[in-house]
Amino acid sequence: MCGIVGYVGERNAYDILIKGLHRLEYRGYDSAGVALVSPSGTLNVYKAAGKVSNLENYCKDKDTTGGIGIAHTRWATHGEPSDRNAHPHFSEDEEIALVHNGTIENYKVLKDALIQNGCKFQSETDTEVLVQLIEYIRTHNDCTLLEAVKEALRQVVGAYAIAVIEKNRPDTIIAARKSSPLVIGIGDGEMFLASDATPIVEYTKDVVYVKDNEIAVVSKTRPLKLVNLNNEETSVDVKTLELSISQLEKGGYPHFMLKEIFEQPTTLLDCIRGRVVNEGKDIIVSGVLDSKEKFMNAKRIIIVACGTSWHASLIGKYLIQDMCRIPVEVEYASEFRYSNPVLDDRDVVIAVSQSGETADTLAAIQMAHDAGAYVYGISNVVGSSIPRNTDSGTYIHVGPEIGVASTKAFTGQVMVLTLIAMAIAELKGTMPKEDLIKIGEEILKVPDYVRQTLELNEQIERLSLIFTYAHNFLYLGRGYSYPVALEGALKLKEISYIHAEGYPAAEMKHGPIALIDAEMPTVIIAPNDHLYEKIVNNVQQVKARHGSVIAIVTEGDKEIRNIADHVIEVPDVPECLTPIITSIPLQLLSYYIAINKGKNVDMPRNLAKSVTVE
Ligand code: F6R
Repeated sequence: MCGIVGYVGERNAYDILIKGLHRLEYRGYDSAGVALVSPSGTLNVYKAAGKVSNLENYCKDKDTTGGIGIAHTRWATHGEPSDRNAHPHFSEDEEIALVHNGTIENYKVLKDALIQNGCKFQSETDTEVLVQLIEYIRTHNDCTLLEAVKEALRQVVGAYAIAVIEKNRPDTIIAARKSSPLVIGIGDGEMFLASDATPIVEYTKDVVYVKDNEIAVVSKTRPLKLVNLNNEETSVDVKTLELSISQLEKGGYPHFMLKEIFEQPTTLLDCIRGRVVNEGKDIIVSGVLDSKEKFMNAKRIIIVACGTSWHASLIGKYLIQDMCRIPVEVEYASEFRYSNPVLDDRDVVIAVSQSGETADTLAAIQMAHDAGAYVYGISNVVGSSIPRNTDSGTYIHVGPEIGVASTKAFTGQVMVLTLIAMAIAELKGTMPKEDLIKIGEEILKVPDYVRQTLELNEQIERLSLIFTYAHNFLYLGRGYSYPVALEGALKLKEISYIHAEGYPAAEMKHGPIALIDAEMPTVIIAPNDHLYEKIVNNVQQVKARHGSVIAIVTEGDKEIRNIADHVIEVPDVPECLTPIITSIPLQLLSYYIAINKGKNVDMPRNLAKSVTVE
């Protein structure tokens, strides 16, 4: 949620900042803005509601010179998306500009106090409080910007990654973080900062991930300095980025979402590489080996996640229960954190998050830690907060996911959960080795099965034309296919804005069946698994009420093809691997329906890729 970027050096800051904002636009696109100190010493702030391209248009005839600047792309929390509420925010004397990703929870109290002291506000945002407070402290205590930022942050409750510049110090940016991500790139006589490494990667591979409660002094002339809120210097731990620019481009596809759907044979290969070895006979998940005792003795596993990651987690529940015979609960992180959960040191909590930055998931793992539970993380973004705040974990290694609707991360998460379940089952001896080997051998073929499934692209594109103008959709599945139904419905609603509900197929008769008529398409996920005969009945029930059925079935299916209106046949895989395969036609269906409706699939309205606020 919200992206920040900063630059100080000899180049033209504006060009670097705008390019960086485009890379971070997945984090929010309600408004964008930039602050630059010009060579003549003017602090210029330009902002525009809407996408970064609006800001670029606005800046066409403006002075965009200067070697230092900060910029922001916004996902609105406090105050509507407008020019006025866009960042950067100025201090009242227009000496300081600040950008912020996060939420200042006690902004009201601070704002009231500042107003009482004569301060005037321009926006409705929580962020403006921070810049006014910094300026108030700076002028009243006659201190440096660094000291003022430090003191202001001591008074602030909430989450932040901030970058601050002042008119009279055109060589230094002060940046800080707590619970919102911040990376600093170290170049030669120049430095960069951003919410993630994507705006930095083409300039330097040397990065520092700022930790909670650290303040960074980012200067073009001096080495990076980090201090904590108590003014103690902390160590600067330089890491090398493993990210390439080509991963951040569309590579000939019209949208990132389509590119990411089509990348899945490769991303799944990357995900299993080195983990499924010896021709499928052995599964090696180093995080599980490191946590061997914890998993062997776990009385319960609780998986916490949000959105698509929660759907992957539900599949993880079925996998771990089936294979390891350990009770598993799956919780929305946002509910779990406020549910006063009963936890102890025999619980293992697994946090699943593509970004590794989701605020609710981070809060849930903090809570689990405090209660003595062992915490395991499954993330995509290397160096993000969740891997850094868990006891052990596994990366899904699917590369940057830029389309706001998650696709390749979902299948990567399901794959990693499958491998984790298999690794635990092997340790606990809860599954015969020959069964594990059979699955291991099939996992090695998954990239090919996915490739084969992607050949359905044209069939699905044609099918999408029939359903583009439906107002509602129902998605049904049972067992492993139930979370796939939830995920299919989420994909459709988030990018096409069509109302869609995912449901366990057998629950339909307890209510949703009342919705079914000739206008209501039902997508039924019905691979050849142990519940197949049961779901055939559910298809019959929909047809008996004149509903139109799109069925995802296993190739060679005999029964459903005779009843359903449209059939999509996917390769035959073991039951536990079906979600990876059956979810792919659903990703394509939602993509094409949204495209037919002219929607922006990569940046759906109101959404952001990384949800770093509550
Ligand atoms: C939907 C989607 C979201 C995310 C959710 C959690 O396509 O992407 O529902 O899954 O916001 O994000 P992460 O996985 O980053 O914690």
